[in-house]
Amino acid sequence: MSSRWTDTAEDLAEATRLKEEKAAKRAAKERKRREAAAAAAAAAAATPTTSPPASKRQKTRNDASDAIAPERAKTKEPKLLRFNGATISACRHVETSYERLNHIEEGSYGIVSRARDLETAEIVALKRLKLERETDGFPITSLREVTTLMASREHPNVVRLREVVMGDTLKDVYIVMDFVEHDLKTLCEDMAEPFLLSETKTLLQQLLSATAYLHSHWILHRDLKTSNLLLNNRGQIKIADFGLARYTGDPAPPLTQLVVTLWYRAPELLLGATTYGFEIDLWSIGCIFGELLTRNPLLQGKNEIDQLSKIFELLGVPTESTWPGFRRLPNAKSLTFPKHSATTGSLLRTKFPLLTKAGVDLLGALLRLDPKSRISADDALMHEFFREEPRPKAAEMLPTFPSKAGQEKRRKAFSPGAPVRGDAPVLEGVVGGGVFGGVEEEAAGAGFSLRMGR
Ligand SMILES: Nc1ncnc2c1ncn2[C@@H]1O[C@H](COP(=O)(O)OP(=O)(O)O)[C@@H](O)[C@H]1O
Ligand SMILES: [Mg+2]
Repeated sequence: MSSRWTDTAEDLAEATRLKEEKAAKRAAKERKRREAAAAAAAAAAATPTTSPPASKRQKTRNDASDAIAPERAKTKEPKLLRFNGATISACRHVETSYERLNHIEEGSYGIVSRARDLETAEIVALKRLKLERETDGFPITSLREVTTLMASREHPNVVRLREVVMGDTLKDVYIVMDFVEHDLKTLCEDMAEPFLLSETKTLLQQLLSATAYLHSHWILHRDLKTSNLLLNNRGQIKIADFGLARYTGDPAPPLTQLVVTLWYRAPELLLGATTYGFEIDLWSIGCIFGELLTRNPLLQGKNEIDQLSKIFELLGVPTESTWPGFRRLPNAKSLTFPKHSATTGSLLRTKFPLLTKAGVDLLGALLRLDPKSRISADDALMHEFFREEPRPKAAEMLPTFPSKAGQEKRRKAFSPGAPVRGDAPVLEGVVGGGVFGGVEEEAAGAGFSLRMGR
């Protein structure tokens, strides 16, 4: 009789093989037992006084169970449960697999160095996960970094994860990636001229394409910014740093608000939304688009309130018609906004006078205050901006630059780091001079006062 789980020829063969193997084992065991019994009988015959008492012998013998084993085997067929999964094998050791060449950068969640694969001589980037302070085992956030990166590594514009390696302890975990020569932040700071419009289009298109891929796989990146975008010398963008990435769903589960580096953080996050979606990544892309055009971060707030003020200053204060329901967001309740109409218009056109109408339209669509009307990555890729002249330049025609990461520690200009895990602050503000009354005090942040805590 075949097991109810065996349904293919391969399974049947495997079941038969298992049966035969078990029968052979039983036969061998029985043979051994007989030999031992014969030896014991011979020994007993030679020295009858040393044979163990019957009761003791009863306790130690296990042949009784052997005797019923064949019966049990008949009634209990092996059940073959087959799963398609990768073979699990041990991680390689960092020291025996890689030679460290130079330190690239220490960020908020990891230390990155350039290294050489000792087997293939390929140059790679090693990111050491910061686990020293962990007391509860391997943190879920690091697990997410590895799983989301692994799920998206086939996209040409996502940095390729090669493997995970270990050091001497369980707190010594490294992710190994392809080495990429530049990050866009360092490059923007060092370039004599900003990218041409045709080059900016190429970069933006690649970024949108990778983001559309992540979103189609239900992955939120949650920390898109120029320092997390790598660029190789073949003009290809690679999204990196999945330290805050996670899977989401429909409807989105409750998610932490404290994500995305301040300057790239969407207004709904600043206003305390606990459910949010892919739109937060699109907002960050809008900020990156602006930064690529000028080489300067678009919205450089000093704190959460100041960030919101800068956003409203550029794009206008939201109204019930431009962002229905925004007042119900937790932090919006305690903020007072100026009401005069002069503050509700967008200043994008004035800020980017050289950008075409289609360009301003796409930037405005990415930087829409209401997340519901913000453009999706798929739709942005179809935008007129990419079809009008100048057309996006072929990636391989993009200029190349000497790689700082290749040899030395990069110069670092100030910019805020990714948020530290924990609770987001509750904002409470009172309009003093008004949002556009200027920043009187740093702590007050453009007329609002900021109270931390709950
Ligand atoms: N694969 C890579 N190749 C080259 N440089 C990299 C690579 N990955 C990261 N870097 C550099 O290291 C910096 C920090 O890495 P990142 O993954 O962003 O860590 P963190 O989570 O600490 O911000 C990046 O901004 C980039 O300059
Ligand atoms: Mg980073």
